[in-house]
Amino acid sequence: MELDTKTPPYLTSDKSSFAYVSARDRWPVIITQAIDDLYRSVSECDSREKQDDGKKIIEELARLKYEVQHDRKLTPIKDDGGVDVAIYNSELEQLGTPSWFNIPWLYCECYLYRRLHTSFSLSTHWKNYDVFSRQKIKTFRSSRPAVLELAARYRDLVTQMGHDKGKADIDHDEAQKILFLEMCEICLWGNATDLSLLTSLTYEDIQKLQGSEARKASEKNILVNDLEAVYDVLRKAKHAGKKERRVDIVLDNAGFELYVDLILAGYLLSSGLATVVVLHPKSIPWFVSDVLPADFAALLSALADPKRFYETPSDDDKLQDKTPSPLSDKDVVDMSFLFQEWAHMHAEGQLIMRSNRFWTHPGSYWRLPSVEPDLYEDLKTSEVVIFKGDLNYRKLTGDAAWDPSTPFTEAIGPLGPNSGVNVLALRTCKADVVVGLKLGQDEEIRATEGGGGDSGARKWAWSGKWAVVSFSQGK
Ligand code: F6P
Ligand code: MG
Repeated sequence: MELDTKTPPYLTSDKSSFAYVSARDRWPVIITQAIDDLYRSVSECDSREKQDDGKKIIEELARLKYEVQHDRKLTPIKDDGGVDVAIYNSELEQLGTPSWFNIPWLYCECYLYRRLHTSFSLSTHWKNYDVFSRQKIKTFRSSRPAVLELAARYRDLVTQMGHDKGKADIDHDEAQKILFLEMCEICLWGNATDLSLLTSLTYEDIQKLQGSEARKASEKNILVNDLEAVYDVLRKAKHAGKKERRVDIVLDNAGFELYVDLILAGYLLSSGLATVVVLHPKSIPWFVSDVLPADFAALLSALADPKRFYETPSDDDKLQDKTPSPLSDKDVVDMSFLFQEWAHMHAEGQLIMRSNRFWTHPGSYWRLPSVEPDLYEDLKTSEVVIFKGDLNYRKLTGDAAWDPSTPFTEAIGPLGPNSGVNVLALRTCKADVVVGLKLGQDEEIRATEGGGGDSGARKWAWSGKWAVVSFSQGK
């Protein structure tokens, strides 16, 4: 597309890329899991008509899996009334209607989820069914220890911040900054598959200006870290007495990641570093785990009644004859505190959800100013727009094969300097594209164990072990 970078995109045909691995190994599994989920829901439902409707979708998904595995040409998205159908189909035509293993990775992966959605939206009884919802809930339940631990810490911090309000000594400012860095890093690692990297933090530690050991340990895996510059922007806006100071979060995954996003949002609001936080979810089931508005509601209701959420045996528990251990009274109080805080912020209009179909378009964010000018104008009014996760980073950089030492500000094209948008990417690396590294840094990591060595593949960037936190000051 003419609006995109001229640097070539990653292709599913490139056998040394994660694009290829992803198309060959992951997509068939993802479609199979969707079929299994739907099969289960179909067999549980009473209405014959609804069952038959569901079976048709199962057949379509099976056909889609066949097409992927047999490298068939992509077919146009059927008209399901979506405003984006023409966008998907005209780009497919421009690409020359290629096959699954010979196509830009970004377009093709978005097409996969859009195509899945069409099967549901054209049905009668399953239009709003989220085929990934079970997986999202299951993962969130399994992160129970980290959820409880963070709830306890969040409650302590917010309570202490309330007591310390008005203190303006330098140590306090410095503590605030360290706390900001910690919160952002928790939010960052919430995007990793390996949650063990989560930092431990106590208010005493922060007041003594000591970052936690765990955070320090994981910090060496953050290859680019521009958080101090972001803190400066927010602090300056606060000190300038600006009345409305908005932070946006372009969300990634539901469950634990959304939970840590809300921890960050709640912290920004409680500390006065922001007065409004706008959350941007997806509008259709997306890349398995991405947040839909319903996931936000589900998270709040889990917090509202944590005993029901965590103590009711899941289907897996029942199969294994297991009963989840009960929550302590303190756990329940901590969770209720979070619920009250966030529900209050939501009700007061400080914590807002704002959907836009742009987030599930197939293209890069280089297209934003031209394709969705209203959204672009809206984002300009934010102090900082935080883009969470890997896919958002791929879209910001056009999922292109940049030299890894290319500055981030250059790789995000029209959203870079003078765009009017302050862009912060919080991303654990789960794909090939990476920018903003020092000269030779990519080669250095490639030479480490599992880094890819001489294979020609940037394997180190595929697993979520490494991260980049890149900021572009657009105004
Ligand atoms: O594993 C591959 C993949 O589907 C990538 O294509 C995608 O960028 C990533 O996973 C999703 O990760 P995230 O949820 O962090 O965007
Ligand atoms: Mg995601």
